[in-house]
Amino acid sequence: MDMHCKIKVGFLKDLLGILLICATVNDTLPLAPVGTFQTECHERHFWLVVKSGFLSLIVRFEVEDHRGIHFLSGQQATECGYTVFFNHHGDLVFRASFLACHVDNQGDSDVHLKGWLVAKQLDGKDLAYPFHLQCSPHWPWASREIVCEENYMEVSVKRPVPAPLPSDVMKSWVVFHRPGLPQDESRPRPVTEASDHGYRISESNSRIAMRCPYSSPFSFTFKDKGVELEVVNATILYPHQGKVLAVSVTVACPVNEATLDGTHLLWSVPDILTPLVREWPRNRGMRIGVETRVLTECAIRERGYQLRLRNGLAEVSIPFGAEGTHIKSGVLDGQYSQSVSIDLFYLHQWEDENWPLTQHRSFRFLRTPYVPWTVIDNTSRSQEVFSVTLGVFPPDVSLHNVTVGGQGEPFSWDQVLHPNKTHSYQLHVPFSHPRVLQLGNKAHRKYSLSLTFALSISPHGEAFYHNVTVVSDYEEPTALPTIPMAAPPRLESKCTQSGFLVLLRYGTQGRSWELFLGARQLDWELIKTGGFTVETEEEHFSVGIPLFSPGVIFQKLSLQGLVAQVVVSVVDIDTLKVEDRVIQSCSFPVRELQVCLPDRRMVIVTDTSRAVPPTHPNRTSLLDPSCVPRETDGIRALFNFSLDSCGTTETVKGDYLVYENRVLYLEEALYGDDPLNHNDGLIVQCRYPKSDIATKPVTSTFDLSPVLPLKLTHSEALDSSVWQYVVVVVVVVVGVAVLLVGALITVKMCH
Ligand SMILES: *[C@@H]1O[C@H](CO)[C@@H](O)[C@H](O)[C@H]1NC(C)=O
Ligand SMILES: *[C@@H]1O[C@H](CO)[C@@H](O)[C@H](O)[C@H]1NC(C)=O
Ligand SMILES: *[C@@H]1O[C@H](CO)[C@@H](O)[C@H](O)[C@H]1NC(C)=O
Ligand SMILES: *[C@@H]1O[C@H](CO)[C@@H](O)[C@H](O)[C@H]1NC(C)=O
Ligand SMILES: *[C@@H]1O[C@H](CO)[C@@H](O)[C@H](O)[C@H]1NC(C)=O
Ligand SMILES: *[C@@H]1O[C@H](CO)[C@@H](O)[C@H](O)[C@H]1NC(C)=O
Ligand SMILES: *[C@@H]1O[C@H](CO)[C@@H](O)[C@H](O)[C@H]1NC(C)=O
Repeated sequence: MDMHCKIKVGFLKDLLGILLICATVNDTLPLAPVGTFQTECHERHFWLVVKSGFLSLIVRFEVEDHRGIHFLSGQQATECGYTVFFNHHGDLVFRASFLACHVDNQGDSDVHLKGWLVAKQLDGKDLAYPFHLQCSPHWPWASREIVCEENYMEVSVKRPVPAPLPSDVMKSWVVFHRPGLPQDESRPRPVTEASDHGYRISESNSRIAMRCPYSSPFSFTFKDKGVELEVVNATILYPHQGKVLAVSVTVACPVNEATLDGTHLLWSVPDILTPLVREWPRNRGMRIGVETRVLTECAIRERGYQLRLRNGLAEVSIPFGAEGTHIKSGVLDGQYSQSVSIDLFYLHQWEDENWPLTQHRSFRFLRTPYVPWTVIDNTSRSQEVFSVTLGVFPPDVSLHNVTVGGQGEPFSWDQVLHPNKTHSYQLHVPFSHPRVLQLGNKAHRKYSLSLTFALSISPHGEAFYHNVTVVSDYEEPTALPTIPMAAPPRLESKCTQSGFLVLLRYGTQGRSWELFLGARQLDWELIKTGGFTVETEEEHFSVGIPLFSPGVIFQKLSLQGLVAQVVVSVVDIDTLKVEDRVIQSCSFPVRELQVCLPDRRMVIVTDTSRAVPPTHPNRTSLLDPSCVPRETDGIRALFNFSLDSCGTTETVKGDYLVYENRVLYLEEALYGDDPLNHNDGLIVQCRYPKSDIATKPVTSTFDLSPVLPLKLTHSEALDSSVWQYVVVVVVVVVGVAVLLVGALITVKMCH
C-alpha cells in the first residue's frame, strides 16, 4: 500500500479516532475522470473545483504537510484559511489562502498544497483522491493585504524586520481594542491565548498574518457610509533585539448583503474603509471578478456589469440574468418571484501614510431578496386566435397544465427555448373554442378567455398559479377607408447607443423632398462614406447616423462625456421650402478616447485603473512632466495639449508628419520588481498629411467648445477632403497596437 495511505490511517486513528480512507485494497490510488478536478491559481488563493457529477453523497477534504494529514473540520477550515462550498452549478469549490495552515510556502513566491478529496461510496467505503496545487503569486505582495472570505477575515502585513532564526512570532503578544472593552480585556495576550479565542497568528518568510472567523470575541461592527463593517482592531507586540515592535493587524470587512436596484443586483462598499485608513488615501483602483475569473474592463462592459463610485461608495451593479449570475425562482405571497445570485470577487487597493499599498479583497456570494417578477403576457389579437406567451422563466420553472379556472380539459401548449437557457410557454386558442366567452352584439363583438397556469419550481416542487385574462375586441371589417388629410413630412430624432436616429414620416402630400444633414444633402455618397444605415418603410424612412461620421458636430468633450449634435432638415425639391427641421444633441459617455484635432491639438481621455498596476489619474503626466491632466476623476485623466508642446516629438514618415507623446504612470518606485511594470506608459500618436498641413489653413471642423455656434453653412466644412488631413490615430496599449486610419476620434472598444 502507498506511503500516503499508511501515514493517513495512522494519523487519523490516533487523533480523530475515525478509520477512513485507503479502504481500497489495491496498491494504486484511485483516479478521478479527466476534467473532474479543475484547479486555478487566483491572486492569493488556490482554487479547486470538483464537478458535481462526480460527487458522492458525503465528501470531505484533508490536507497534508510534513507533519502528516489533517482533516479539515468546519472550524479548523475557517481558522486555517480554507473555504468549501457548493456553487450554483452544484460543483464543490475548495478555496485556500496561500497563507493557509499546512501550505508549503517557499519565500511567499512559490506555494504548494497537497490534499485529498475523500468520498464515501455507496458501500460505505471511503475513496481518497489526491490533489496537488501549486501557484506562484504573480503580483508582488503589498505591504498590507486583507482578505474578506466567506468564512474568515485575514490580514497579512510585511514584517517590520526580516525573519529571525529561529522564528519568534510565537513569543509575540496581541492586544485587542474594542470600544467599551473592559480595561483588563485589552491587556496584551500571548499568541497561544489569542489562538484559543479563534485568532490564528502565523508568519511566513516576509509576512505576519492574522486570521479569524466572523463574530469572533473581540470583533465589533461599525457603520461606514451606511454599510456595515465587521472590524477586529488588533496590534501584535513583536519582540526584536530587546525591543518590542508594534504591528497593527486591524482588519475590516463589509458584511452587507446585496440589494435590489430595479432589475439589478447592487452591492456597495465604502470607497474608503475608515477603520483601515488614518490619512487621506490615494485610490489605486478596483477590480471585480466572478468565480475564478478576474474580469477585464471589456468583459465587465460586455456582461453589462457596472463598477462606479458614487457618494463615497464603490458600487457594483449587475443586471438580472447577466453572464455569471444565477436566477432562482420562488413564490412570495402566492406570486412568482426571482432572486439573483453571483459569486463575486472584489479588489480595492489604495496607498496611505501608514501603508505604501493596501490590497483589500472580498469574496462574496451575493444574493438579492426574492422579488415578485411580472410574468409577461404576449397576446396577439390577429387572425381570431388568442396567442398567449407566458415567461420568460429560468430552467427551474415548469408548467403542469393550463386550464380555465383549474377545471375541465387542459389546453395544449408549446415550450419555447431561448438561447440563454430560459424558456417561455405559448398557446394558441381560436376565438371559436368553446371555453372562449363571446360578448357584445354582431357588429362589435368581444372575446374573452381566462386561463389558469399551474406551474412549479424545482427542486422542491413548490407550486404556484398564474391567472391571465385576455380580451379581444372584434370589429367586422368595413369597406370604406377614411379620406387622408394632406399631412406634411415630419422629422423625429433620438439618441442611440452609437449615434443618432432620424425618422422621416412621409406625410400624405405626395411631393418630392430631400434630406439635409447640416448644409449637406444626404445623398448616397454621404451615406456610404459616413457608414449611415437607412431603412425605407411604407410610411417612413429612417437614417442611422454614427457618432463619428461627417456632419456630426462635437460640442463638448469632458470626462462626463462627449456631447454631439446633428441638424437634419427636410426640403421640398420644387419650392425649396424647409418643411421640417430637427436639432438633436446627444451625450455619449466615453471611457477612453484619443482625438487629433485639425488645429494640431490632441485630446486624450485615459482610464488609469486599467494600467497595471492601477494608477491614480493624478499620478500621470506626458513626456514633459509639467504636462499633467487638465481634468481627473477617480479613474480617468483628460489631457489636452498642443502638438508643439509637452515633449511631443515630430517625425516625417513618408508623406506624413507623425507626432508622438506618451502618458506616463508615475509608479516606478513601488513596483520596481513588477514584471508587468509599464514605465513606457501609453503611446499616443497623431499623423497628418505633410502637404495639407503646410498648404491648407487649418480650420477647426469640429467645435469642442462648450457653446455651440452652429456654423456649417459653407459646404467646405463637411467636405470629405477636410477629413483626410485631419487624422490618423495610433494607440499602443500594452503591446497591442490598434491602427486607425482616417478616423477623427477613436474610442477603444472591446476585442
Ligand atoms: C484601534 O484601537 C486603537 C487603540 O485604542 C485606537 O487608537 C484606534 O482608533 C482603533 N481603531 C479603530 C478602527 O477602531
Ligand atoms: C433570455 O432571452 C429571452 C429571449 O431572448 C429574453 O426575453 C430574456 O430577457 C433573456 N433573459 C435573461 C435573464 O437574460
Ligand atoms: C410577442 O408577440 C409579438 C407579436 O406577435 C412577437 O413579435 C414577439 O416575438 C412575441 N414575443 C414573445 C416573447 O413571444
Ligand atoms: C394541474 O396541475 C396541478 C399541479 O400539478 C394539479 O394539482 C391539477 O390537478 C392539474 N389540473 C388538471 C386539470 O390536470
Ligand atoms: C386564479 O383563478 C382561480 C380560479 O378562478 C382562483 O381560484 C385563484 O385564486 C386565482 N389565483 C391567483 C393567483 O389569482
Ligand atoms: C483644449 O484646450 C484648448 C486651449 O486651452 C481649449 O480651447 C479647448 O477647448 C480644450 N478642449 C477640450 C476638449 O478640453
Ligand atoms: C487630484 O487632483 C485634483 C486636481 O488637482 C484634486 O482636486 C484632487 O484632490 C486630487 N485627488 C487626489 C486623490 O489626490
